[in-house]
Amino acid sequence: MIKIALKNIKLLHFINKIPLIRYFFILKIDQNFHNIRDNAVLEKFYQDIYVENKTSKKTANMRFNDVDSIALKYLNYNRKQYIHDIAVSSGITSDNFYEYLKKKNINFQMDISDKYSQISVKKGFTTKVYDADNNLSFAYWGFFFAGDKNIFFPLTVFLYKIIRKFDKNYDFNYSLYLFHPNILEKVKKQKINVVSYDIFQTTIKEKYDFVRCMNILNKTYFTDNQIMTALENIKQSIKENGILLIGRTNNKGTNNASIFQKKANKFIFMEDINKGSEVKTLV
Ligand SMILES: C[S@@+](CC[C@H](N)C(=O)[O-])C[C@H]1O[C@@H](n2cnc3c(N)ncnc32)[C@H](O)[C@@H]1O
Repeated sequence: MIKIALKNIKLLHFINKIPLIRYFFILKIDQNFHNIRDNAVLEKFYQDIYVENKTSKKTANMRFNDVDSIALKYLNYNRKQYIHDIAVSSGITSDNFYEYLKKKNINFQMDISDKYSQISVKKGFTTKVYDADNNLSFAYWGFFFAGDKNIFFPLTVFLYKIIRKFDKNYDFNYSLYLFHPNILEKVKKQKINVVSYDIFQTTIKEKYDFVRCMNILNKTYFTDNQIMTALENIKQSIKENGILLIGRTNNKGTNNASIFQKKANKFIFMEDINKGSEVKTLV
């Protein structure tokens, strides 16, 4: 089975409502990507994209409503709170969090990051999409989508492998951020900052009061050692008494997360949301 790529948003919106059939279709990206405001079509697109280290870009509007309201308890109303949302994909959940905190009159500055937020595109019958390290992220061969990981669509993966194997071309027609239009608007108005942050490599010194790390340090993606390296980096970036919120959304859509406070360079457990994070013992 192979996935079909379309540009027509109305048609994709319609197809999205048809069970099973919807999985056969995906958005064909072009320069107008930032004008697409159909969340269902965008969500479906991010669901099928995997980055170089095989992590998914899946995200969803309003997916952290429960988590956001618990997070509020840990934010200080009396002074400006510096927040970092890590590995945000489209950033739609950062946008949700931003709007929620504004409504609650929190004084804050929000930074967001995602190592694979920027893509460069080479147009053609074979349209190729590269990440910032020039790795082929995904491609389109005419109407067919070529993607790196999908057990139900082996031809989609096979096509990706063929295109990647014979690809030597790194000249691009355009580059863009894979952020949601709401985020781009906030970045333009300097309401949100985009920071460059690789969870395994970047060190930031004690800048944040609150760090959120959802759906990236998962045991299915990384080894315990890798997760601990990333946690050490995150810890460096948090101020004394600052908060880490870490967790994963399970396949039923439940957010299993845990909250920790940094004290004397250690993470102290504060509370679990639902069943708590699967990496709790590593933290
Ligand atoms: C599943 S998405 C999580 C999106 C959002 N946090 C949520 O839970 O809805 C995981 C994101 O991690 C990003 N990512 C993968 N490796 C990373 C790394 N080494 N550093 C920072 N971000 C990374 C991917 O680009 C992807 O957008």
